[in-house]
Order: sequence, then C-alpha cells, then structure tokens
Amino acid sequence: MNLYKKISNEIKKSLIKNKYLIKDYNLNISNKIKKNIGHYQINGIIKIAKNIGKNPIHFAKKIISNMNIQNISEKVIIQKPGFINIFIKKSFLIKEIKKSIKSFRMNIKETKNKKKIILDYSSPNIAKEMHVGHLRSTIIGDAMFRIIKFTGHKVIKTNHIGDWGTQFGMIIAYIKEKKDNKEIQKISLNKLNQIYSKAKKKYDSDNKFMKKSNKYLVKLQSNNKKCIFLWNKIKKITIEENNKIYKKLNVTLNNNDLMGESSYKNILNEVIEDLEEQKILKNKNGKKIVYLTEFKNKKGNPMGVTIQRKDGAFLYSAIDIACIKYRCQILKANRILYYVDSRQNQHLKQVWMISKKAGYINEDCMLEHHMFGMILNKEKKPFKTREGNTIKLIKLINKSIKKAKKIVEVKNKNISEINKNRAAKIIGIGSLKYFDLSKNRKTDYVFNWDKMLKLHGNTAPYIQYSYLRILSIFQKAKVKKSILNGVIEINNENEMLLAVKLVQFEETIYQVITNGTPHILCKYIYDLSTMFSNFYEKYSIISSNNNKIKHSRINLIFITAKTIKKGLMLLGIKTTKYM
Ligand code: ARG
Repeated sequence: MNLYKKISNEIKKSLIKNKYLIKDYNLNISNKIKKNIGHYQINGIIKIAKNIGKNPIHFAKKIISNMNIQNISEKVIIQKPGFINIFIKKSFLIKEIKKSIKSFRMNIKETKNKKKIILDYSSPNIAKEMHVGHLRSTIIGDAMFRIIKFTGHKVIKTNHIGDWGTQFGMIIAYIKEKKDNKEIQKISLNKLNQIYSKAKKKYDSDNKFMKKSNKYLVKLQSNNKKCIFLWNKIKKITIEENNKIYKKLNVTLNNNDLMGESSYKNILNEVIEDLEEQKILKNKNGKKIVYLTEFKNKKGNPMGVTIQRKDGAFLYSAIDIACIKYRCQILKANRILYYVDSRQNQHLKQVWMISKKAGYINEDCMLEHHMFGMILNKEKKPFKTREGNTIKLIKLINKSIKKAKKIVEVKNKNISEINKNRAAKIIGIGSLKYFDLSKNRKTDYVFNWDKMLKLHGNTAPYIQYSYLRILSIFQKAKVKKSILNGVIEINNENEMLLAVKLVQFEETIYQVITNGTPHILCKYIYDLSTMFSNFYEKYSIISSNNNKIKHSRINLIFITAKTIKKGLMLLGIKTTKYM
C-alpha cells in the first residue's frame, strides 16, 4: 500500500470535513522514519492553522479525529507546536510484507490512472562519438523509463538523435572536398568525429566553406539523392557505435526507439502553415521568425526564434516544434519528459510557447524539462581530458570496469577469469551509473573514482555487497524454499524500522515518478541496506534458537534482498555473485 498517499488523502478529507477548502496548501509530510518520534510526520497543519487563526494543537487534534487511519496506525501523537506524528501498526506491516513476499511485483500496485508518457533522452548528435556530456541524460532517462513502466503507464522512449541539423551540411561539404564516397563506406566513427571537428573549425573560420555547407544542408533537407546516401552511411556508423555503448551500459535504448530530428521532416512545412495561420510567423529579410513577447532579447525587445532560414533550411527549434505536434496530436501524449541539459531550458521553453500558440498542446498534456547539472572535475570545472578535450563515454566506461576489476581481484583470488570480468563489468558500470543517479539531477556534481567505487556509503558497491551478504546468509543456512513462506514477526526496534522501510518501497517509486528524481530511489535502497546491516550486527539470524524467530528473520531479510535487487534493477543496475 502507498502509505504516504493514504495518509495524505486522509488529511485532505479531514480538512474538507473541517471546512478548510483552500486548495493551495502544502501538507509537508515527511516519511523519514525517526526513532521514538514516529514513522510519518505531518508538518503543514501548523501553517494552515495559523492562516485561519486557530491554535495549531487544537486544530491538529480536530484533523486527527476525522482521519480514518485506524487500520494502519498504532498511535498518533501531537507534538508542539502542532506536528502530527504517526506510528504505523505492527499487524498492518506484517500483513503487507507477507503479501509482498508472495507477489512477483512486490505487492506494488499498478497505477489506476494510466497515462501515455513520452521520454526524450540520450539523443546524441550523429557523426560524433558519445561523450561524458551524454551520460546523465542517457542513464537518468533510462532509469525513469524502467520505473514509470513498472507502474503500468504506457511509456514511449524516444532517442531524439540530431540527424537533420547544420552539422550535416558541414560534414557533407567537407567529405565532398576531401574524400570520395567510397572511403566513407568503411570509415570509423572515430574518424568521422575527427572530420566533424575539422569541418566545424573550417565552418567557423572560412566564409566560403560556410556558404557551401549551408547549401548542402538545404540539399539534404530537400532529399537530394547523393546527400541522402552519405547521410545514411554516416547515420549507420554512428548508430552502430552508440548501440554498443547502450548495451554495455545496460541501457534499454535500441533501434526501435530512434525518433531523430529527421523523422519530422515531412511535417515541417505543415508547421510553417500552422504558424502562418495563427499569424505569429513574421518574415524578416526572407527569414521566418516567431517573436515572443514573453522572452526578451539583449536589447530588451521581444525575442525572435528563427523557424526557417532564408535559404529554406529548418533549424533545431522548428524540428522540436514539429516533434511536439507529432507527440501531442498523433501519439496523444499526456506527459512529455525531456531529459536534456539545463542549458537548453530557454530553447525548450520557447518551443513549448510557440507550440502552445500554434494550438498543438492539448490541455491534458504536461511538458516537463527534467534538466540536470554538469559533471565537474576536482577543480569544479567541466570534466574534460588533461588536454581539455571532451571525454569519450566509452573510455569512461572501460576505465570504470578496469578499476572495478582491481577490487574484484583483491577480494576473489580464486575465481575464474570469466567470473572476474563479469563481476567487474557489473560493479564498474553499476558504480558509474549509481554515482550519477544518486545525485540530485538538478545540481552539478564532482566526478570522483574513489568515492564512486567505495565499499561504504551511498554507492553501488555497498548496496551490491549488502545484497550479496544476504545471499551468503542463505547459503550458509542452506535455506530451503519452503521456509520463505512469509512467516513474519516484529520483535524489536530494528525489525520494526526495517519493516516500515520495506513497506515504503511503493511510495518511493511513485514519488520518483512525480518529480523525475531517481536519487530518491537510490537513497531508499541505501537506507534499506544500512537498516539491514544494523539489524544483522545486533541480532543473529540463522543461529537463533527459537525456530519461529529464525524463520521470521529469514523471511524479513529475504524480502529485503528482493527489494534491493528490484530497486537496483529499476535503476538499470545489476547484482553480482562475486564482489
Ligand atoms: N541532440 C541534442 C543535443 O545533443 C539533444 C536533443 C534533446 N531533445 C530534444 N527534443 N531537443 O544537444
């Protein structure tokens, strides 16, 4: 059961019964379990009481008396100046845990309110190797995909690859100047990347080359056969390499999710017509521009967003507007989540605004920019190579696996090379992903190999190790399946804490979906792991003399392990047999 939701619904109902009808209040409920203080604390009643000139303690008492939570709560205490502290009932916890032991879905219900949700993530540009800048979007987006899907929503993941923009003009122009088409057949992505950098330099410094490149972009966008041929080759080379990275990273994206910029090429002209019809498209020196009074340019005038260049080429914004039209009108999305760098916030806000004015966005559709900060080095500067270049993602991944292998080798001298490599991959990739996912996505973070691979603290290795510890307890005790039958007792404070935490799995997942914040799930599994560890240090599990207690404890740690594994899986992280 989603306890958090149950409690918050009960308070809302009680507020209504008490004739408090203002919608705009914050109940400020905390589900941080505090020893002796309670499992849930409602903080928002104080402010509400003050707003209507009532004594918070009296008001809190009234609110409680109208709440129907007898089946879940043992006792409710009002703490000065008006906090409501709720203690969850043992019998309720036992009942819930028994259900999740038997359930494949860990007793987590699918949402009743199923929506169609589109996730836009990873989205690298074609002709370039993926670099460290793509890590956050790729793994946060993929974790969100797994989590949302688990709750039963209809989720569409889209990899909005950059395959229709200005870079193609440059690359095609460069290749035409320097290489022949045959050579491009067997070119590697690395080489293509080099061509891209050279072409970009030339584009920025050589006016003639710039004009030529622009011409090629127009040619490509008007489906010139030769350009399309080259474009297809370049795309194929890039996508094949990117797919290898996704696979290695245990990211679910594959060719079925490719919905790049070029997918919208056939509706770009429609967009122009729509904008003209709405009378928001202005013609300025041949350029088609939408002026937005909601945004100001440097001079303080309405900001102009170029939709189509004088030569007919469509720009990034135009494609994103067409994409919104498709996602809203054809796919009928209820929610579109963009996992895109925070530097593109203004761009997104502008294209949403224009799409709204064009009438593309239905009332029941929410567009959300789930932006993220940067990855920094120890000097708090953008994380780059020593020479100041971007770090290739594949290099970062391989380094992480290599570092993890050293850890595995020290701890497992006697296992086979294959098993060592397998474990190193799971721990290395897990550490890299978890370190990122465990940070609040809105802020920058400092990359640190030592911290990410540590066996203690909020890291993947610590959690993977906790899971393994439980498995080894099972092995030692030679636990038979028949024992895992859901006999549960709660006999001490540690078991109580563990039980409440286990039941909070469901609300944690729903909280992550509301805000697009996987770090909350990370913190949850971390807390669960430490609670298990504290319990295990204090109480014997398999050597308990009392058979009933022993069984109950085995069941409790069994469901703990299952929850850890499921939590990691929802984040896209695997568990390993060796550490
Ligand atoms: N390709 C873009 C980039 O590398 C990201 C695209 C994000 N998604 C979107 N719908 N604009 O910066």
